[in-house]
Amino acid sequence: MQTMDPVSPSSGPARSSPAADRNAEAILAVLRAALPGQGRVLEIASGTGQHAARFAAALPGLVWTPTDASPEALASISAWRASVQAANLAAPLRLDVEDPVGWPAGPFEAVVAINLVHISPWSATEALMAGAARVLVPGGLLYLYGPYREADTPLADSNAAFDASLTARDPAWGLRDRDEVIAAARAHGLAFTLRKAMPANNLSLLFRKV
Ligand SMILES: C[S@@+](CC[C@H](N)C(=O)[O-])C[C@H]1O[C@@H](n2cnc3c(N)ncnc32)[C@H](O)[C@@H]1O
Repeated sequence: MQTMDPVSPSSGPARSSPAADRNAEAILAVLRAALPGQGRVLEIASGTGQHAARFAAALPGLVWTPTDASPEALASISAWRASVQAANLAAPLRLDVEDPVGWPAGPFEAVVAINLVHISPWSATEALMAGAARVLVPGGLLYLYGPYREADTPLADSNAAFDASLTARDPAWGLRDRDEVIAAARAHGLAFTLRKAMPANNLSLLFRKV
């Protein structure tokens, strides 16, 4: 079932998202297959920091830089970072994806954005594409994860309910059409390379900078 789990605070600033616990290994398997052995990864909207901590520990050849727009998220990411022995996990950066000045210069071998596209206005997705195109090396990976609408696949009941809950919370949020996301990426020179169905009616969408 697709839900937007409330992030439940544990001790101190470290937060814990049950959804991130559930989806981390499936996402890691896709990333392992797509990422180079060495390089730099910029994670957008890292949230609690659980994914960054897990992925950096599992992929020691990659320098993983987590980011988020929210100060509370940055505090949680720092707490998770302190809890794992991963020298390749960089300190989190404050980055609002819609602020082009806030983006680090890079270059990066990959940009990763998990559960951002539907929990932000469409302008954030457009800014994500523009920013990823700016900072990725040629051939670099843009990885997106989350639920999407697809013209050729009926929307799962759980995703329809999730979409309704998102738009009730903010009318600018909501599940995006997969092909519109692909078109937005293409407009910035990011070629769509892979759709992979993920547990709980989510998708991994992979793009490469041309
Ligand atoms: C649903 S959470 C996903 C967090 C994490 N990626 C995960 O899957 O557990 C959405 C995150 O997007 C961040 N966010 C929303 N708008 C943003 C923006 N314009 N720039 C950067 N981060 C943003 C929020 O602060 C929040 O941490």
